[in-house]
Amino acid sequence: MGKLDGKVALVTGSATGIGRATALLFSDEGAKIVIADYAPKEAKETLAMVKDKGNEAIFVEIDVRKSAEVRKMVDTTVDTYGRLDILFNNAGIMGRWIFGGDIDELDLDDIIDTNLKGVFLGSRYAIPVMVKQGGGVILNTASTAGMVSLPGQSIYGASKAGVVMLTRTMALEYADMNIRINCICPGGILTRMSEPDPSGTTPSFRQPQPMRRFGTPEEVARLLLYLASDDASYVNGAAITIDGAWSTGFAKRPPKRPAS
Ligand SMILES: NC(=O)c1ccc[n+]([C@@H]2O[C@H](COP(=O)([O-])OP(=O)(O)OC[C@H]3O[C@@H](n4cnc5c(N)ncnc54)[C@H](O)[C@@H]3O)[C@@H](O)[C@H]2O)c1
Repeated sequence: MGKLDGKVALVTGSATGIGRATALLFSDEGAKIVIADYAPKEAKETLAMVKDKGNEAIFVEIDVRKSAEVRKMVDTTVDTYGRLDILFNNAGIMGRWIFGGDIDELDLDDIIDTNLKGVFLGSRYAIPVMVKQGGGVILNTASTAGMVSLPGQSIYGASKAGVVMLTRTMALEYADMNIRINCICPGGILTRMSEPDPSGTTPSFRQPQPMRRFGTPEEVARLLLYLASDDASYVNGAAITIDGAWSTGFAKRPPKRPAS
């Protein structure tokens, strides 16, 4: 018996990285999966990986920055599987490594629209469905950068701090409706996002780590499985770090100014 038998889970940003690992683990645990992403090539690879295991999944091509598309993503889920039990708002971008005084306004819009508005939109359209069906689980991907300042990533950090507060506030708003809303704050996870920037403008995001290694998307997926399942039935409104102790104080070092 799987921990998510009979559940329907929608995972944004599941073409690669943490989202893909989560889609695979949730499907192994019995959930029907909706893979939602704006990168169709990699998303279809995730779809094939789920189906190759004999599990059920569909792919919806959507951009989380666009309200009509996010609404379509939720509608398609309900039309296909009849319900939506778990929404994982995970799609995100980091943006260039640049200090606040040099940030282009369009870059700011892109980061905020993807990381913060995207999480809001997913929740906005999923909550009425969950209220109607008597409950559900929402998981959001924030970041250690939403808790500890990361020079060069002020907007990314602000977007993720926003996700933490959106999570905490919405959790309180819907706590009496059997909807649990939690977020994870990863740090130092081996995905495309943390790969060194080939242009060299990003000072290595893969900095030394307290545990002398990086985390894997699969390790993050196991935390998400716990939060999505009934094992976490009283965990609500939490922001849980998964960063190998990076945000405990190890992260505090003098800011390194990017070359201009
Ligand atoms: N890797 C890390 O160390 C780390 C640390 C903290 C937080 N995070 C967060 O984890 C989440 C997943 O990132 P990842 O590390 O797996 O990197 P990733 O780049 O492998 O995954 C990001 C996914 O989001 C999708 N995406 C981006 N913008 C989108 C949009 N507008 N619409 C639809 N899909 C979109 C991408 O296509 C991709 O599949 C992100 O929110 C990221 O900010 C990652």
